[in-house]
Amino acid sequence: MSLLPIIEYPDPHLRERAAEVDPALLAQPAFQKRLDDMFETMYEAPGIGLAAPQVDVLERFMIVDVSEERGQPLVFVNPVIRKRSEALRAHQEGCLSIPGIYAEVTRADGIEVEALDRHGKAFTMRVDGLLATCIQHEVDHLDGKLFIDYLSPLKRSMALKKLAKLRKRG
Ligand code: NI
Repeated sequence: MSLLPIIEYPDPHLRERAAEVDPALLAQPAFQKRLDDMFETMYEAPGIGLAAPQVDVLERFMIVDVSEERGQPLVFVNPVIRKRSEALRAHQEGCLSIPGIYAEVTRADGIEVEALDRHGKAFTMRVDGLLATCIQHEVDHLDGKLFIDYLSPLKRSMALKKLAKLRKRG
């Protein structure tokens, strides 16, 4: 396995809509290796989710593991969020593509998501809490959306100033 470079804001590739994955490609060793590399990269970072566009692959798949012991790896290929609860949940979010920046974002507390697993098998999951927050954040990446887009103009500009400062400091 190998660590993959994570692209960072404001890389324009983070703003593109990723393409559907052809399920026939899932059986290819190259696709499976990419998933393994993404897990290694996410665990090393460390992060709880990583979408393919963040490693500069403009395709609709992503990985998630919100468990404390980092032992519940989930793969979502061509995910679609079918339902969102009316109940909301606020969470202090961060993103490996916007390192060092955290801000509260409010999203649906519960969701129903459909996707293919890493072997191309379709599944439906109903989840809530942190896992639902994380899945919504990662699906946004597949649509070129970032968590800072949810902030007020003032909070966003403060976040981006902080990012510039952190980068200057190295
Ligand atoms: Ni992110």
